[in-house]
Amino acid sequence: MTWSPNSWRGKSALQLPNYADPAALDGVIDDLSARPALVFAGEARRLKRQLSDVAAGNAFLLQGGDCAESFKEFSTEGVRDMFRVILQMAVVLTFAASKPVVKVGRIAGQFTKPRSADTETIGDMTLPSYRGDSVNGMEFTAQDREPDPQRLLRCYDQSASTLNLLRAFASGGYADLHNVHQWTQDFVQGSPAAERYAETATRISESLAFMKACGVNRDSAPALESVDFFTSHEALHLPFEQALTRRDPNTGQWYATSAHMVWIGERTRQLDGAHIEFAKGLSNPIGVKCGPTITPDELLRLIDALNPENEAGRLVLISRMGANNVREKLPALARAVTQGGRRVVWSSDPMHGNTVKTESGYKTREFEKVLSELEGFMDVLYSEGAYPGGVHFEMTGSDVTECVGGANAVTEADLSSRYHTHCDPRLNADQALDMAFRIAEALKRVRSNNSVNAA
Ligand code: TRP
Ligand code: MN
Repeated sequence: MTWSPNSWRGKSALQLPNYADPAALDGVIDDLSARPALVFAGEARRLKRQLSDVAAGNAFLLQGGDCAESFKEFSTEGVRDMFRVILQMAVVLTFAASKPVVKVGRIAGQFTKPRSADTETIGDMTLPSYRGDSVNGMEFTAQDREPDPQRLLRCYDQSASTLNLLRAFASGGYADLHNVHQWTQDFVQGSPAAERYAETATRISESLAFMKACGVNRDSAPALESVDFFTSHEALHLPFEQALTRRDPNTGQWYATSAHMVWIGERTRQLDGAHIEFAKGLSNPIGVKCGPTITPDELLRLIDALNPENEAGRLVLISRMGANNVREKLPALARAVTQGGRRVVWSSDPMHGNTVKTESGYKTREFEKVLSELEGFMDVLYSEGAYPGGVHFEMTGSDVTECVGGANAVTEADLSSRYHTHCDPRLNADQALDMAFRIAEALKRVRSNNSVNAA
């Protein structure tokens, strides 16, 4: 049987909206199918090559962005602020690890959310759950909650605009390493993380001046003035993804052109389900979220279904165990993968397993819990002889109060002041930068502990 972008339709598809008018959806899908690709096969291949360096232990993956993008919060400044925090984190990690950092945004397409229930009831009213701006509106009214296929066109447009900005920021001069001091935002200025960042930035500026005196400058080293920046989102809305899946004329292979990388979520990774069937036929790098219930056997079967050629850079296993589970659940998985000789990137999503609700009803995450899961992840992988190759964050470049803790501590009482997320709580710019330093420290510590143990 040959795969095609609509093969998934023969399988059971969880988490898809029920559209009242399927013909209207088909019309939108036809429209989208005729629109230009958002990203190109050659770019996805470039990401895959960079991820194969991560799989080999020679680079580090940094993936991050909003839990869910929204129509309302979209702005040039928002995209720029997200981009600049990712640059700052990348600087810190590159400097600390002396390894290239592969930069992947959770952006320009992250519009669809899985939900634990199809409906939500408030008082005596029951309505469809909010599934992301690609599907319906967040307000609890019958009109807003009705799935509307026209929203997919707006997702496409916003993704195209976002990508246009990101491409300009990545290669138009903004990301030039000589600007390393200018990426700090005003509201972060003076915080402990910002001060540490300023020290690192000064050392980088000095190194650049020294290299320049030695004859290395923008002309001889163009890598100094731009970055590769890739996009990613959860491949959840299969009709939308199908419409943007195209055959690369050069290789004959199929690519999702909605993003460079897509991932399959914890709730839709059934081996015989529609989402895995869809991902199988793509040639992009693919992520799979791995939560505490996955067994080593199930994981190996998933890996073999998605990466039968055992190609390095194709698969990113995104562990999301929770700080209290990671040391117990991850070792058997890591061992099975390593002993089975499967080439993968191991990345940690320390956000989703550590979500709690406060007494006042806010969903939040504690900075220290997030960090604790990351440390557990690194410890486990190093002691299993595997490489903790990446991190996956829900974060933003703006000054929100959604997660508690960090060097410039956000408290539970602060949450109400700037809680803006359309879904899960994100690290703010200051917490994200702080986290980059803590990751760098943990990487060093775990690495030296394990070389001591091995000696
Ligand atoms: N191009 C290199 C890289 O992406 C160096 C670089 C340029 C860089 N601008 C950067 C690194 C901004 C981190 C952040 O690694
Ligand atoms: Mn989330």
